Amino acid sequence: MKFRTIIEPFRVKTVEPIRQTNDAERSTALEKARYNVFLLQAEDVLIDLLTDSGTGAMSVYQWSGMMKGDESYAGARSFAVFDRAVRDITGFANVIPTHQGRAAEHILFSTAVRPGDVVPNNTHFDTTRANVEDAGGLALDLPVPEARQPQSAHPFKGNMNVDALERTLQEQGTRVPLVMITVTNNSGGGQPVSLENVRAVSEVCRRYGVPLFIDACRFAENAWFIRTREPGQDGRAPIDIAREMFSLADGCTMSAKKDGMSNIGGFLAMNDSQLATRCRTRLVLTEGFPTYGGLAGYDLEAIAVGLKEALDEDYLRYRIRSIEYLGDKLESAGIPILTPTGGHALYLDARRWLPHIPQSEFPAWALSLALYLEGGIRAAEIGSVMFGRQPDGTERPAELELVRLAFPRRVYTQSHVDYVAEVVLHVDTLASRIRGVRMVDSPPVLRHFTAQFAPAHGAIVST
Ligand code: F0G
Repeated sequence: MKFRTIIEPFRVKTVEPIRQTNDAERSTALEKARYNVFLLQAEDVLIDLLTDSGTGAMSVYQWSGMMKGDESYAGARSFAVFDRAVRDITGFANVIPTHQGRAAEHILFSTAVRPGDVVPNNTHFDTTRANVEDAGGLALDLPVPEARQPQSAHPFKGNMNVDALERTLQEQGTRVPLVMITVTNNSGGGQPVSLENVRAVSEVCRRYGVPLFIDACRFAENAWFIRTREPGQDGRAPIDIAREMFSLADGCTMSAKKDGMSNIGGFLAMNDSQLATRCRTRLVLTEGFPTYGGLAGYDLEAIAVGLKEALDEDYLRYRIRSIEYLGDKLESAGIPILTPTGGHALYLDARRWLPHIPQSEFPAWALSLALYLEGGIRAAEIGSVMFGRQPDGTERPAELELVRLAFPRRVYTQSHVDYVAEVVLHVDTLASRIRGVRMVDSPPVLRHFTAQFAPAHGAIVST
């Protein structure tokens, strides 16, 4: 390319004002939210990096597609548009719309998993794990060893441990109804999975006759990493990489709130028509008729367009670079982050950054509170609050204590990213004064959404 600057490949047509708050206002807001950023009012947040899910900006093509939405209960034209778009990318014969990713997971696992079954995954996302467990199954994470090393520079830390998978299939035999692989590996740091790894996993699954499903939420970002990092893939069209990835699997679950570039939606897709029929029966109970599955006709249109936009090369180049740009700034200032930077998010390594906070006082949670208090940034803990509670009710500290700065798609510009870097560097000057929290109250599952906390030592940032 002639010029080095990677620009946002869009211009802004509609703006949504965001509001500055002062230190005192944020302190009050956080206290009212019981020291849980999920319980904050969004208008009290300046830069919202809680999630990249459903928070993106839609394009003019998506909005105009929505005007064509066919709201017929059955056989809507919009379903045909959606079905065609999904099949064109994934190649799977049966496409089942759902209102979001976890609904697809729920329908798949409640149909295919029986109590005592084991579902291997490179790393389960929290809702995926919860849905496997809800069906009575054991959610088994089989990442490669590099996934557990925050500083390893391995280009595909999202890969699955193929030997461990093979051992599991040997030992568990018929107790494994399906294998999943999450691209990119969200809970493992937004790290990609190589095409070679998907191929190897697929080969093992086929040998043991176990279907392979892709958790495809960020399939386009994963395709871009394959293109830029995997030998022999350079310059290949992201859609061709995506098609090859899906061709190695038997089905997928998808949250269209991520690489579907939409504010809501998802799907379940698979080649096995008998399993699809059983899934559709469940769908009617919980989501809706198989040609809308919990979505409006206009949502189906927005997703059909969004799936293609997510694969646009200029978009993906800008998308992946904006996270890497923030990573470069933080790394050169010596801030401990998980490297390489992920596709949708940058992960701060709270264990290395705040070694004075014991895991029992949730260092990553405390760090997320400090980011909000100091700069109005909302980010999510991916650590012992999210993963520490075991299915039997016991507590086990998470392997990594991370704070995820997840970037909504096409929402923030470079100056927002510069501001985020400035806040993180400022928080670094306070690091030794950041104190832990104690959990005051929590629900039994997915506790991070609603658990209540209090400062363990008087204040989050001691004076
Ligand atoms: N799988 C992965 C890998 C995810 O990251 C998510 C959602 C889901 C499944 C569930 O999809 O939200 O549409 O029901 N991740 C969001 C996040 C919530 O913030 O990472 P959903």
